[in-house]
Amino acid sequence: MRTDDGALRGRRILVAASGSIAAVKTPLLVSGLVQAGAEVRCLLTPSAEHLVSPVAMATLSRHRCYRDQDQWDPGRSRPLHIELAEWAELMVVAPLSATTLGRWSLGLADGLLASTLLACERPVLAAAAMNTAMWKHPAVQANWQSIQRLPGVIPLSPTAGLLACDRHGDGRMADPIQIELAAAVLFSRHEGELSIDRSWLGRRLLVSAGSTLESIDQARLISNRSSGRMGVLLAQVARVRGAEVELIHGPLQVPQAWLEGLDCESVESADQMQQALHRRQEQASALAMVAAVADLRRSGGGLLSKPPKSDLPQLLEQGWEPVPDLLEGLVNRRPPGQRILGFAALTGSDEELLLRGGEKRLRKGCDLLMVNPIDRVGEGFGEDNASGWLLGDGLQQRVPLTSKLALAHDLLDALAEGLATPTSC
Ligand SMILES: Cc1cc2nc3c(=O)[nH]c(=O)nc-3n(C[C@H](O)[C@H](O)[C@H](O)COP(=O)(O)O)c2cc1C
Repeated sequence: MRTDDGALRGRRILVAASGSIAAVKTPLLVSGLVQAGAEVRCLLTPSAEHLVSPVAMATLSRHRCYRDQDQWDPGRSRPLHIELAEWAELMVVAPLSATTLGRWSLGLADGLLASTLLACERPVLAAAAMNTAMWKHPAVQANWQSIQRLPGVIPLSPTAGLLACDRHGDGRMADPIQIELAAAVLFSRHEGELSIDRSWLGRRLLVSAGSTLESIDQARLISNRSSGRMGVLLAQVARVRGAEVELIHGPLQVPQAWLEGLDCESVESADQMQQALHRRQEQASALAMVAAVADLRRSGGGLLSKPPKSDLPQLLEQGWEPVPDLLEGLVNRRPPGQRILGFAALTGSDEELLLRGGEKRLRKGCDLLMVNPIDRVGEGFGEDNASGWLLGDGLQQRVPLTSKLALAHDLLDALAEGLATPTSC
C-alpha cells in the first residue's frame, strides 16, 4: 500500500546506489517509483554492482543503468555526470555508503556517483546504510552533519534492527516504501512544484492519529473508521520539512514503513491517548490533534467478562459516559506560544460544515480547525484525498478536494504562522 495521489507521475528521478548490502532493496524502490508513474534513471557505483545487478535496475526502470565506465564513452558529447544532474528533478541515493558520504562531504568527484552528487543543484534524498559501529564513527557522523548543511539535502537516517552483519542496532536503510513516500512529500506541494522547504527545522510537532478503542466488555469494542492516514502523512511531511515529530496513535491502517523516523507511542483508549499527549505536550512547539477519538466509554470501570449476545441490547443502553474532549483539554493546558490544530470529521453540506465547524472551533478554542466531510465518495477516512474548511481567527478558507499530502503542507504552513522562530536551526 502506498500513496496514490499522483505526486510522482511524470517526475524525473535519478536513483543511485552505492556499495552497501542494502542495495539489494534498491530495485524495490525503483519498481515502486515506476509504478507510481515516475520516470526513473539508475546509477550504480562499482561496489554496488557487486551487490545488485545493473540488469535488474535497467529492467525495472525501463532504461539502461549507468555505471562508472559509461563516463568514458568517446561517443558522448557532454559529460554524463552533468547530463544526469541536469536531467533529474530529484536525486535519491539509496543506499548511501560511508565512502560515498565521505566523498560527497569532502567535495571529491571520484567516480560517476560522486561527480553527479557534486554537480546536482536539485534536492537529494540521502538514505544512509551501514553497520552500527561504522554509523556511530565520529568521522561518519561529522560527514552526515556536514551534508545536511548543503541546500536541498533531505537526510533519511538509518533505522534500528537486525543488520546483515548479525548485529542489532542503527544502520538499516530506510524502507523503500518510506523513501518513496519522502519523494512524494517533496513533489506534493502546490500542484507539483518541488519543495525543499525545511521551515520546521528546530521545531517539535506532537501529532495524534488513528482511532481509539473503548471496551464494551472483555471481547467487544467501540471504535470508528479512521485509518490514521491524514495524521501519519501530516507527521511525515513535517519530518521531511525538518521537524522532530512525536506521534501518539491508536490502531492504524497505513503501511508500517510510514512510521519510520517518527517517535511513536501506540495507545488504545482515549484515556491512554490523553495521558500520552499530556506527558509530551510541554515540549512541543505545536500540536496537531488528528486522531478520531471514540465518543463514549463505559462508566464505573471494571470490565464485564463477556455477557451473552442476548444481554447486549440492555448492556448497550446503560453504563456509558461521554469521553472528555481531548482537544479542549489540551488547549486549556498549553504552554505559552504553542499552536494547536484540531480536526473535525463531519457530514452534511458545505454550509452545514462551515456552521458546525465554526461553533466547534470556538468551543474548543484551538488556533486552527480543519473541518472535513466523511460522507463523500473518494475522500475522508482511509482515502488519499480530503476537502473542507480551514477555520481560524479571521480565517475561513475553503479547501477544495486535494491530496492529503498537499493538504498536510498547507496545514503546516498555517500552523507555523505565529510560531516563534526556532532557536536551533
Ligand atoms: C558485502 C559488503 C557489504 C558492505 N556493506 C556496506 C554498508 O552497508 N555500508 C557501507 O558504508 N559500506 C559497506 N561496505 C563497504 C563498501 O562497499 C566500501 O566502503 C566501498 O568502498 C564503497 O564504495 P562506494 O561508496 O563507491 O560504493 C560493504 C562491503 C561489502 C564487501
